[in-house]
Amino acid sequence: MLLAIETSCDDTAVCLYDGQRIISHVLYRQTIHASYGGVIPEWASREHEVRLPQAVLQALQEAQVSWDDLQVIAAAQGPGLLGSLMVGHTFARAIAAARQLPFIGVHHLEAHVASLELSGEPLYYPFVALVATGGHTHLFRVIDPLRMELIGKTQDDAVGEALDKVAAWIGLPYPGGPAIEALAQQGNPQAFAFPQPRTDKPYDFSFSGLKTAFLYTYQRNPSVSLPDLCASWQEAVFTYLVEKLLQAARAYHMARIALVGGVAANKLLRQKLTKQAEEEGLQVYLAPLAYCMDNAAMIAVAAWHKYLSGQYTSLHTAPFARG
Ligand code: KG4
Ligand code: ZN
Repeated sequence: MLLAIETSCDDTAVCLYDGQRIISHVLYRQTIHASYGGVIPEWASREHEVRLPQAVLQALQEAQVSWDDLQVIAAAQGPGLLGSLMVGHTFARAIAAARQLPFIGVHHLEAHVASLELSGEPLYYPFVALVATGGHTHLFRVIDPLRMELIGKTQDDAVGEALDKVAAWIGLPYPGGPAIEALAQQGNPQAFAFPQPRTDKPYDFSFSGLKTAFLYTYQRNPSVSLPDLCASWQEAVFTYLVEKLLQAARAYHMARIALVGGVAANKLLRQKLTKQAEEEGLQVYLAPLAYCMDNAAMIAVAAWHKYLSGQYTSLHTAPFARG
């Protein structure tokens, strides 16, 4: 029985996993940041401090698992907000030390990729994965559950961050992605044309130009239809993501592609990617909707692979914000 903790950003999550099934999963999404357009790091850490002990007890209770049943303890180690990471990482190491159990620190982006295993469908390697979150927009060549290579990343904002920022500009709450998605459903995606960004390296991303284009369109036209603006902007952003992912698949001769992370919860993006991939005869793996945004189940699955291969983490280790 593995206990996993996720506190990388603003979600406090605890999971119990037996190597095959999620036995319990307690998730608290912090709501205090909603009206601030983004996460306030100090507040996020404090919320984790307050919520985490109870979340661990609740996960044990729901699973009807005792402390004696635990065999391994895992936690997100980074990247993320350092203060937030420290809460979960230190809590997990303290349990491991007190119970004399192995500890496994998990890379947050590897965990997002591991969320694919929670779909219940067979997963075949290798594949190219797009990790699209509030902090990262990274393309990886995933060789097996324990090995992935970075092939491109954003040069400025992450796509989720860009969604959160434009949402804040037009008065929508944080997180902006779901709010924009809802508004865009009533809009015309062809109302405005936004240029596709260019980067020096073919598999890198850039969202700053698209963000500025959104702001100019909004400021120059005070009576603009917000649903049309959001629908058109989403269309441009998602066309860009899908195209990059497919280009990478072609270049790396991959027959399989994957989409994970909070932005992968977007239905339009899922549809667009599935359609394009089908046309090109590629197999698509989508993170299950319940596990796109931060959660502890993905930490558990990623940790399990490390556990089986004996890749334990020293208790004398610190979390990291970047990398
Ligand atoms: O993976 P995640 O929960 O946290 C990080 O690791 O950053 O991703 C959060 C991001 C936020 O930027 C949020 O706006 C975005 O995922 N997001 C969405 C949707 N749901 C969450 N973006 C677009 N459409 C959604 N439905
Ligand atoms: Zn994440």
